[in-house]
Amino acid sequence: MTEIKIFCPATIANLNCGFDVLGLCLEGIGDEMIIRKVSEKGIRITKITGADLPMETEKNVAGVAALALCKDAIYRVSIEYGFEIEIHKKIKAGSGIGSSSASAAGAVFGINELLGRPFTRHELVDFAMKGEVIASGSEHADNVAPCILGGFTLVRGYNPLDVIRIESPSEIFAVVLHPHIEVKTSDSRAVLSPTIGLKDAITQWGNLGGLIAGLYTQDYELIGRSLQDVIIEPLRKKLIPNFDQVKNSALDAGALGAGISGAGPSIFALCKGQTIAEQVAYAMSNSYLDTGIPFDMHISKVNAEGVKIM
Ligand code: HSE
Repeated sequence: MTEIKIFCPATIANLNCGFDVLGLCLEGIGDEMIIRKVSEKGIRITKITGADLPMETEKNVAGVAALALCKDAIYRVSIEYGFEIEIHKKIKAGSGIGSSSASAAGAVFGINELLGRPFTRHELVDFAMKGEVIASGSEHADNVAPCILGGFTLVRGYNPLDVIRIESPSEIFAVVLHPHIEVKTSDSRAVLSPTIGLKDAITQWGNLGGLIAGLYTQDYELIGRSLQDVIIEPLRKKLIPNFDQVKNSALDAGALGAGISGAGPSIFALCKGQTIAEQVAYAMSNSYLDTGIPFDMHISKVNAEGVKIM
């Protein structure tokens, strides 16, 4: 095998109560990448379509993640060749559904396949996370983990990286409203406070535990009760026009919960079943119309597979 085409899915990070630790993988929305083995050593980005991103390997999230993998791969396999990477972006940068993570995850997944899989999918998360630094200024795995592993994922710890994959209850659907405005992750992180109060911390970790318990026991009511964010959402929602109206319309239409997808501006809702998801998508769209800002709507099951060869 000397060339592969890869589908790199979009993801929703944080899921309200799990800032920087929780995420889920979406179906149907994602980038495509082509990774090619070539005789000239090194990593080169040879083509990018759909976005204006740096072609220099060291400045591109896919390039940085690929370099991190290759640096460690030499201890497991002999690499007498190089790699070319083509990135065909379908996920807009700064959309809040894991655009940079999809590129980082696709690069490490593709190169690992061409090397004969020296690393497990879990091990790939660490390399992909290195690419995230370029996009957001910090290493976090809550988008790259679900992109690589599929399903819901929890980053139990960062030092060392400890990622747990969580099976998704069968009837969970995600609805995403993506306004066509860009919010840079670094800007969205800059509005956050470095410290939090004990009362809010107690509320947040209670909800995080509740959400994980709800996912494992398929208790949709508990999932809904736990989809709360008292720490990040109050600070970030001002970056997103009509956020409260859209969230309330999703809840009124029957969503289990709703909030900011990743660093925003996308707004997500989780629903039980496709029919409710469609009603929620309709309600969310209606409550965004008066902003005059164009937007896309996505309805997706949870993608259990993650990044894959097409
Ligand atoms: N957890 C990250 C954030 C996800 O909310 O800043 C976006 O990269």
